[in-house]
Amino acid sequence: MISGLRQIREFVQQQLGYETTGHDYTHIERVVSLAKLILKGEDADESLVVIAAYLHDVSDDKVTTNPEAKRQAIVAQLKNVGYDDPFIEKVFEIIDNMSYSANLKTHHQLSLEGQIVQDADRLDAIGAIGIARTFYFGGHFGETMYNPRIMPRKGMDKAEYRKQGTVINHFYEKLFKLKDQMNTPTAKQIAEHRQQVMQAFVNEFVDEWNGTK
Ligand code: ADP
Ligand code: NI
Repeated sequence: MISGLRQIREFVQQQLGYETTGHDYTHIERVVSLAKLILKGEDADESLVVIAAYLHDVSDDKVTTNPEAKRQAIVAQLKNVGYDDPFIEKVFEIIDNMSYSANLKTHHQLSLEGQIVQDADRLDAIGAIGIARTFYFGGHFGETMYNPRIMPRKGMDKAEYRKQGTVINHFYEKLFKLKDQMNTPTAKQIAEHRQQVMQAFVNEFVDEWNGTK
């Protein structure tokens, strides 16, 4: 039994229910399920994993224009259901350091619980769901699907890339790299298959684009 789970779930549902870039509540539910699956093979604090998985995108600047207000709302929510400051700090240590972009900037060593949530979040970015979310996200930000002449340049920031980037480039820029960055054996195994699915999709996509299939 994880205390306050029902309230935390309702809070997240309220916060992310109408999110339209692929970080909506269904993403959260998938991440929680994957995190629970990974947990079976690890000796980790279940409450911390599940709560961090539920809250990991609420205060992210891609889903809110006011991350600070959302952080305060998270603190209030956790306090309200009885969690103490050290626990709340551990939750933020995970959500602040688990993202791909955060990892490019600093190499913070995540706790085992953080590694599990990070793996779960990354698994939902690859495979069939990963393909769907990437096109959904690209459509939201007006990216073109593909342009053989545009390839990502090193050091391009997110805004610049979105202006020039294509959805297919995102696979090369990030998604194909995730498989080798998984922390846990369970996630590594699931990622193998998902990688093959994405690779087959992109190959087929390019062949059809070029009219060679
Ligand atoms: P991070 O883990 O660094 O927070 P994001 O939240 O930005 O990463 O990415 C989550 C998902 O959103 C990606 O896996 C992808 O599906 C989609 N996404 C992010 N950036 C782009 C992009 N430039 N083009 C297409 N999809 C993107
Ligand atoms: Ni996420």
